[in-house]
Amino acid sequence: MAKVVIQARLPGRIDEILAGHIVVKPTADEDQLPPARLLRELADADALLPLLTLPVGDALLDGAPRLKVVANYAVGYDNIDLQACRKRGIVATHTPGVLTEATADLTMALILATARRLREGMLLVESGQWHGWRPEQLIGLDLDGATLGIVGLGRIGRAVAGRARSFGMRIVHASPRPDERDGAPLPLDQLLATSDVVSLHAPLTPQTRHLIGARELGLMKPLAILVNTARGSIVDESALVEALERGQLGGVGLDVFEDEPRVPSRLVQIPRVICLPHLGSAARATRARMAEMAAESIADVLAGRRPAHPISG
Ligand code: GLV
Ligand code: GLV
Repeated sequence: MAKVVIQARLPGRIDEILAGHIVVKPTADEDQLPPARLLRELADADALLPLLTLPVGDALLDGAPRLKVVANYAVGYDNIDLQACRKRGIVATHTPGVLTEATADLTMALILATARRLREGMLLVESGQWHGWRPEQLIGLDLDGATLGIVGLGRIGRAVAGRARSFGMRIVHASPRPDERDGAPLPLDQLLATSDVVSLHAPLTPQTRHLIGARELGLMKPLAILVNTARGSIVDESALVEALERGQLGGVGLDVFEDEPRVPSRLVQIPRVICLPHLGSAARATRARMAEMAAESIADVLAGRRPAHPISG
């Protein structure tokens, strides 16, 4: 029987999908396998279902000589060294599609929350400092008629565009290819200079690391909003903190950070910044479908079938 190591406790019907395999997973009172046990179990494992927080590269794979498949519990796969997998004949898979709508919802939540300054409003009420309705108190951005610049018009970017359109936003995008619905891409600099809200939906690659740095932030409109639900390192976080402290940007909504779970305290202290703990796909049905998709990929590879979502990148 093939042995499958599952790093964390997961929702969904994965026991059913992996029936007939030896499944090693956290006990009922653990969220995750402790790192030492994970490494020990990998020594004779055929399959691994890791979280996006686990770097899967030479160091880990050297200790897992029988591994045939790594099924990442995420759509992003910057934690996986594809070359290290390929040279060992390991198939890597991810979970595209099933988390698109949930992630687009969370992006929209951050766009709405930053545009209408929800955190500052909540702080005002909670501090007892709200002294009544004022014509110019905490006025924010009208989404109707505002321009949303989507950086990376893939599955999630398109789902955000659809939602934003129903709020009356005009969509522009910067991405490698033209889009049937949203037309030709703009050069990034032009998108930054013309958008009221900029939302990032690109994968993290060497080309997108620090795509948004001091220069790019400087191109944005004075009251523009930046939202990142993709990967923290697409933004140069220190440059972002400095820009905000200088008074640039009207608001920032972040679900991802450069060195998770570390969130710079200087960032958190700025009231027009909203920070969330990487919740993009954190919706009940979505998380179950992600687990089932990853388990199915493992069952497929172990049975000699081609999995539905191999990572080809
Ligand atoms: C979450 O960040 C994912 O890539 O699925
Ligand atoms: C706002 O509360 C309004 O009535 O205009």
